[in-house]
Amino acid sequence: MNDTATKPDARSLVMPDAQTVTAVTHWTDRLFSFRVTRPQSLRFRSGEFVMIGLPDERGKPILRAYSIASPNWDEELEFYSIKVPDGPLTSRLQHIEPGDQIILRPKPVGTLVHDALLPGKRLWFLATGTGIAPFASLMRDPETYEKYDQVIMMHTCREVAELEYGRQLVENLCNDELIGEMVEGKLLYYPTTTREPFHHMGRVTDNLASGKVFADLGLEGPMNPATDRAMICGSLAFNIDVKAILEGWGLREGANSEPREFVVEKAFVGDGI
Ligand code: FAD
Ligand code: A2P
Repeated sequence: MNDTATKPDARSLVMPDAQTVTAVTHWTDRLFSFRVTRPQSLRFRSGEFVMIGLPDERGKPILRAYSIASPNWDEELEFYSIKVPDGPLTSRLQHIEPGDQIILRPKPVGTLVHDALLPGKRLWFLATGTGIAPFASLMRDPETYEKYDQVIMMHTCREVAELEYGRQLVENLCNDELIGEMVEGKLLYYPTTTREPFHHMGRVTDNLASGKVFADLGLEGPMNPATDRAMICGSLAFNIDVKAILEGWGLREGANSEPREFVVEKAFVGDGI
């Protein structure tokens, strides 16, 4: 097609709900994060997701659900993304650069929010892969530390490099002028790998069920429905397996309409599911 005037270009297109990319970081060949301008009217609860996307060749939006990884006080919005080689959206999205525009539908929703949990003392964030994105938001929200005495972030990936986004986030958080003091001593970070040697290894499910995570962090185990609250975000199989362990300990799944002891959200919709 030679007629560039009719060809949508992410840099120049006038799109409804367009936001401008301000920064992009590539973490591995499968993972990247980016920041975009925030619509002034957008209010969201940390942990929620929105629909974002890009136009296809004909200008029709390709939209996908994305957890907002930044906290609700941030002036910009951050997202943490997979790169699926032939994925309709991410095969394009992975090439965005500062100054480009993306589509963002400003209607945040989701179950990984404080409102969906009953008050408690310990809060567990349980994630695999890009499932850490909603917790990147919640870990940076002061409300998390106002509501809980202890916050434990368990994140598991196949390889060490896939943990780096979360590792840097936690490190920066602890050194942050504003929130660092609130976080200190309250946030416990427990990253593990499953397919590359690392100081802590193993699936979240195995480390919970065996009691290893409690022993390693010097915590009382197992989880207690009177005091422990949890948020789960990973593949469907991961969510099902973690849910079964928590239910075995007497915790019940909650929702916005009925707060209980834990909440679950899919980090992505798998093939054929
Ligand atoms: P798709 O056609 O959407 O997906 C193709 C295949 O790639 C899927 O069938 C699956 O097997 C695999 N896949 C898709 N997403 C992932 C992923 N995140 N991790 C591992 N494998 C995946 N994705 C993010 O990268 N970051 C997020 O914060 C995020 N939040 C989400 C929140 C919700 C509630 C849901 C339902 C999905 C979320 N996703 C997130 C997934 C996202 O919506 C897209 O599926 C993803 O961006 C790939 O889009 P695509 O069009 O390139 O490929
Ligand atoms: P494993 O390497 O043992 O399969 P993936 O890249 O396939 O999405 O997996 C991300 C991480 O989640 C991997 O470390 C993987 O461990 C782990 N994982 C996958 N499925 C489950 C499950 N059902 N329960 C616990 N952990 C899981």
